[in-house]
Amino acid sequence: MKKKINIAIDGYSSTGKSTIAKKLAESLGYVYVDTGAMYRAVTYFAVKNHIISKDFFKKEELISKLNQIDLKFIFNKDLGHAEIYLNGKNVEENIRNLEISNLVSRIAEVSEVRRKLVEQQQKIGKDKGVVMDGRDIGTVVFPDAELKIFMTASAEKRAQRRYKEMIGKGESVNLEEVIKNVTERDRIDTNRKDSPLIMAEDAVLLDNSDLSADETFEKAMELVAEKI
Ligand code: DC
Repeated sequence: MKKKINIAIDGYSSTGKSTIAKKLAESLGYVYVDTGAMYRAVTYFAVKNHIISKDFFKKEELISKLNQIDLKFIFNKDLGHAEIYLNGKNVEENIRNLEISNLVSRIAEVSEVRRKLVEQQQKIGKDKGVVMDGRDIGTVVFPDAELKIFMTASAEKRAQRRYKEMIGKGESVNLEEVIKNVTERDRIDTNRKDSPLIMAEDAVLLDNSDLSADETFEKAMELVAEKI
């Protein structure tokens, strides 16, 4: 039997991390965990409770209400992967719009939020067999992950991908807005004090600016094969 490992996939916004992570998990029979969805669900909670908007952020109130936030991943058989639930409600459809995307990096800067989510992520991965994507997986969540992939691509390519995805879902956005969101999020994620987005020393860099999703997946599978 092949040995079970943990796979950490980090990198910039809209590099296709979740697509690759999902496909890897599916073909290896591993659990896929989208940690961005967890930060997004906390952001959705904060929006709904009038804790954050584009004009204000009541950080202390969020910290005092963190114990009211329960996040769970529940496997959806039809989709073949897990979906995120906030206090018992499936919020997948509520967390990927531009409003949440524009606020999430500010929520992700809060150390108390990070501590809560990282603890949950580490529990999920303690028995191995997990593919987790995010920004700090190889550096903070699983510094001992057997395979760490750091994904990047040019800002234009990334914005175009995110734009197509959003248009495909029927959202009315323009490309300019999406480029602004992607670059601004990367700036905040890279510069924050707590667990900034950086490549772990032992991560493998995967630039997919000129690769299709299938080619990116093939490269990732080659890296997995070397480890198991
Ligand atoms: O992967 P994503 O674009 O859905 O992530 C949304 C935001 O959440 C991202 O801009 C930064 C934050 N994030 C984080 O700080 N740490 C993670 N492990 C995952 C996401």
